[in-house]
Amino acid sequence: MEIFLDTANVEDIRRFARLGLIDGVTTNPALIAREGRDFREVVAEICDIVDGPISTEVISLDAATMIEEARMIAKLHPNIVVKIPATKAGYEALNVVSQEGIKVNFTIIYTANQAWLAAKAGATYVSPFVGRLDATSTHGSDLIAEIVQIFEIHGFVTKVLAASMRNEIYVKHAALAGAHIATIPPEVLDAMMESELTDVSLKGFLAEWEKLPREKREYFK
Ligand code: G3P
Repeated sequence: MEIFLDTANVEDIRRFARLGLIDGVTTNPALIAREGRDFREVVAEICDIVDGPISTEVISLDAATMIEEARMIAKLHPNIVVKIPATKAGYEALNVVSQEGIKVNFTIIYTANQAWLAAKAGATYVSPFVGRLDATSTHGSDLIAEIVQIFEIHGFVTKVLAASMRNEIYVKHAALAGAHIATIPPEVLDAMMESELTDVSLKGFLAEWEKLPREKREYFK
């Protein structure tokens, strides 16, 4: 299972890239805007840091302009994946640009039907929004399992990219449900690496270690 970082913050991207944990990055207009920087500059910097798929989203709502924007965005770097929202206009844009070889992450998906129609229309990735779905009292991870099952039954090669991972539990459930990728915000990935019990255990080990006479542990200075 791959991990993408769900952010446009280059400091966070650098930090996790150093840990070797991230295979790609996803952004959306809100995440880019949050950085308050020039769009192209941010995207170029992200592409320099991570050698993997970098999702960047179109901002128009009509198919013709989405297609123009997708072509424009795709030219920014060979690793760019264009995010297109799951609307009727989005399907039209997906159909056109995927035939031109542009990789599309079909996004803001809330139903299994939206996902398999996107796979049929040539999406490289589909992004079900698990956390936002949970917020409407529906099991987001059930949606992931349904999409994974449909893709397996019908032989779609489109990857299921679990998005809106608002806490570590969502990520675990996405992994158990068979998502190919989870796109995870930095704060959630930070939390996934830690356990209070790890800290307590480590503290205990080192306290015992300190009881060994100093000359017998001088190897460590
Ligand atoms: O790419 C952003 C997507 O993952 C949405 O996340 O937490 O705003 O629902 P959230």
